[in-house]
Amino acid sequence: MIFKGLNKYLSFSSLIILGLTATLLISLPAISQPANITLRDLAQEQNFHIGAAVSIKALRNDPTYREVLAREFNMVTPENVMKFKPIHPERDRYDFTAANEIVAFAKANQMQIRGHTLVWHRSLPDWLTETEWTREELMEILRRHIFTVISHYRGDIYAWDVVNEAVGGKDSLRKTIWQQGIGSDYVELAFRWAHEADPQALLFYNDYDGEGLGEKSDAIYSLVKDLLAKDVPIHGVGLQMHKSIKNPPKPEDVATNIKRLGELGLEVHITEMDVQIHNGTGTQEERLVKQAKVYQDILGVCLKAPNCTAFVTWGFTDKFTWIPRAFGQPDFPLIFDKSYRPKPAYQALVEVLSTANH
Ligand code: XIL
Repeated sequence: MIFKGLNKYLSFSSLIILGLTATLLISLPAISQPANITLRDLAQEQNFHIGAAVSIKALRNDPTYREVLAREFNMVTPENVMKFKPIHPERDRYDFTAANEIVAFAKANQMQIRGHTLVWHRSLPDWLTETEWTREELMEILRRHIFTVISHYRGDIYAWDVVNEAVGGKDSLRKTIWQQGIGSDYVELAFRWAHEADPQALLFYNDYDGEGLGEKSDAIYSLVKDLLAKDVPIHGVGLQMHKSIKNPPKPEDVATNIKRLGELGLEVHITEMDVQIHNGTGTQEERLVKQAKVYQDILGVCLKAPNCTAFVTWGFTDKFTWIPRAFGQPDFPLIFDKSYRPKPAYQALVEVLSTANH
């Protein structure tokens, strides 16, 4: 009697379980990798750094942003808050508040940090740009700035973009406040001061449009080659990789460029990758597939090169990206959509990382 009742109960509950499982299976999105595998796990297995630039506004206000960032990446770059203007707003005052928050988040989640950036011609405070300085004064300002910021984070920052976007035309430096006020040796001085401030940190020269082969990448190559010939402490070159599906970089050219930098003894980081789709052709879906291919090609090239040790995207969700503001067009340049759903580009990176052998 009791068993009969139990039997009935069991078959009833198995039906419910069956039903529930079926509903669950139907409602699950089709994903090609086990749901619990992340870019971060896969990168860790390869001893590789996978990172994203971090917006302080998003980090402060959006819990999903924080969750996805810590889950998918093992490296961060502060997108803006370590730049000259926000971190050194007055001649005798530094403001580390926002940068400290990103550093604290990264440390709490065992993530490495790329410092960005010490010497640039943009994001400069008025107190600096609106005064005429002598060469000696400007050198002292830059030396102190570099020393103060690097010392504040000594031991916490894995690599610094010491000099950003200094190359102008063929074999000439961009005419900036630093180049005009100090002279072209400002680049080597900056690296020497940075190295004094933190001898452990890796020091990078970072630039855009010099990822493949051509005049600009040649100019970057000869700049860093000259620095090395003068025993300047420089350890790597950052290839920013702001690209679009219309003019994607040639993977074989990027590979050749990374290799020649490696032959100088330099590391390479992909530092700011995003891929615009607004100027491409095809439906939105087709564009997203083309975008995935560009991401896949570049990560593939990097993972094949022993001296390419980090791959960082400039943000990670289309919810927070500088592209629409900077280019005046709606765009979707990153690997998660605005609702944090992985895009084809994310799946493409998972695939490359799963099959790589760095
Ligand atoms: C951009 C930020 O993403 C924007 O939020 C800011 O308004 C301007 O700077 N090259 C660099 C980055 O080295 O620092 C720039 O970041 C993008 C181009």
